[in-house]
Amino acid sequence: MDSQTPREKLENWLRYYDDLNLGAFYTDRRTMGKRTIKPKPISAPAALLEMQPAMTTVPAKAARPAAALPIVNAASLLDVIDRVENDTLERICDDLGECTRCRLHKQRNKIVFGAGNRRAELVFVGEGPGHDEDLQGLPFVGRAGKLLTQMIEAMGLQRDQVYICNVVKCRPPENRKPEEDEVATCSPYLYRQLDAIAPKAIVCLGATAAQALLKTSDPISRFRGEWFDYRNTKLLATYHPAYLLRNPAAKSEVWKDLQKVMAHLGLKAKKVSK
Ligand code: URA
Repeated sequence: MDSQTPREKLENWLRYYDDLNLGAFYTDRRTMGKRTIKPKPISAPAALLEMQPAMTTVPAKAARPAAALPIVNAASLLDVIDRVENDTLERICDDLGECTRCRLHKQRNKIVFGAGNRRAELVFVGEGPGHDEDLQGLPFVGRAGKLLTQMIEAMGLQRDQVYICNVVKCRPPENRKPEEDEVATCSPYLYRQLDAIAPKAIVCLGATAAQALLKTSDPISRFRGEWFDYRNTKLLATYHPAYLLRNPAAKSEVWKDLQKVMAHLGLKAKKVSK
């Protein structure tokens, strides 16, 4: 049984974000581009905030001033995390450490933080490590990864020119979808990675990444291939390469999506030698 009161739970969450050094909170100003997508049902932290409408101070560590905490109406408290000043991938990786913050750490071999160009104009975000990634500590190195490499090269890029990471950094057992609380616990690191890299475009590979960053529970088929604004960066969701391995017919749709990304980045498709 959960012995914490809602207020204690909220305080724990706020302490958690404070420990992550995520700075101040501000009210959400997310936009969704032209298209409206349904906000996700509120997750635990936001639900707690809603239950505490009168609470206006951050009950965090003594050193932090009891700054006014805007009451947040956003879909999730995770939406309202401010940028960390001068953040770097090294610092984020250090903060992640040998993470034990969620149950996924129990069965992992290696944390898969992400890999690629720290100044990449293009970031791909997948769901979470699979078997090969867990063993090597690198993202997208299995079968789906090989297809992703082909997609990147078809766009006229090399893999080391882009950055590749995942929503969760530890392999979910049996490659199951990460649970909502696992996504919520790991997402701040992804947000910080994206902020630190500051790419020109983010491509979400599959529903988990898109739903985590856009805060929606809509199926990906409803908004795939459309541009959204994610914290002032263009974001587009397309199908996951693992899905393409099972459904090769969907490759043409993904190629159309990637062509939109190429147009935005001024890239020309790789010439296929005959
Ligand atoms: N699938 C993902 O979503 N990420 C990986 O790193 C590998 C497979």
